[in-house]
Amino acid sequence: MKKIGVLTSGGDAPGMNAAIRAVVRKGIYHGLEVYGISNGFQGLMEGKMKRMELGSVGDIIHRGGTMLFSARSENFKTDEGQELAIEQLKKVGIEGLVVLGGDGSFQGAAKLTAKGIPCVGIPCTIDNDISGTDFTVGFDTALNTIIEATDKIRDTATSHERTYVIEVMGRDAGDLALWSGLANGAESVIIPERNEPFEKIIERLQRGHARGKKHSIIILAEGVGSGIELGKRIEETSKLETRVTVLGHIQRGGQPTGFDRVLASRLGAKAVDMLLDGESGIMVGIQNNQLTHHNIESVLNTPHNLDMNLYELVGELSI
Ligand code: ADP
Ligand code: F6P
Repeated sequence: MKKIGVLTSGGDAPGMNAAIRAVVRKGIYHGLEVYGISNGFQGLMEGKMKRMELGSVGDIIHRGGTMLFSARSENFKTDEGQELAIEQLKKVGIEGLVVLGGDGSFQGAAKLTAKGIPCVGIPCTIDNDISGTDFTVGFDTALNTIIEATDKIRDTATSHERTYVIEVMGRDAGDLALWSGLANGAESVIIPERNEPFEKIIERLQRGHARGKKHSIIILAEGVGSGIELGKRIEETSKLETRVTVLGHIQRGGQPTGFDRVLASRLGAKAVDMLLDGESGIMVGIQNNQLTHHNIESVLNTPHNLDMNLYELVGELSI
């Protein structure tokens, strides 16, 4: 293998840049030509690629977002779209591809692999919703963004003795809600993986209020439903003054944490090693602090598991 490509696809995640840097530098270290493909699979179909040098990835390790831009492409889901992408790769002589993204992007990578282009995926999404890895690149940064925002909300919640519902991202997964709930000492965490009866949330709130708590924080995963609606219901039922904050896309940006930079660097370098070892159709990941790799199809077919011990712990610590 002499030429490889790298692209970022789907929702961006802090740490993608650090991973791109690692792919480019590790590729060049091995004597490869590395091509950066802009705008994900859409850009690939349009032939938007250029050769990367060592300096092309200078000064990006600390930046959020992705220097290669990201996109969602319906066209690429079709056979014609995939054939077009393969034609573009063949024109330049690219023999292997590193795909940074979430499960949607890995479906694309699996399709290209089946059509003869070896692909290796790097899990990059704030949602942490991918099996075969304990952590995805971007999760830790988003978690810390939520923690910081919630600390600020707690200040004003205390001053005004209010209840706050904070809606966080995660798509269908509750990881961001659960981890931030634990880190922020939330009274309740509401996640899609556990059906907490509404009455229990109210009961917990009123118990806290009765023993003199100045405020309450409820973290809601977006996959469960609307924070605004929940806030209204809570205020009507509990008669406690309630406000809602939907954190939104601030969770997707910002400087990646040290953890995400290290993870991204390790996974980026590993992805290149895997391509050179002749692996294809795999995702690299981290489990028990060891780098691992799994078949992409099996990653896609295995549900991601949330550590429910953490959920029990939130309940135990917020009595
Ligand atoms: P993420 O990778 O963050 O989960 P998406 O689900 O939006 O993001 O997927 C990103 C892109 O991956 C899509 O816009 C599409 O181009 C490609 N993709 C998703 N699903 C498929 C599929 N079944 N076949 C081919 N490509 C796909
Ligand atoms: O997958 C990452 C994510 O930020 C989810 O947490 C969220 O549901 C979704 O993407 C938002 O997507 P968009 O950027 O298209 O609004």
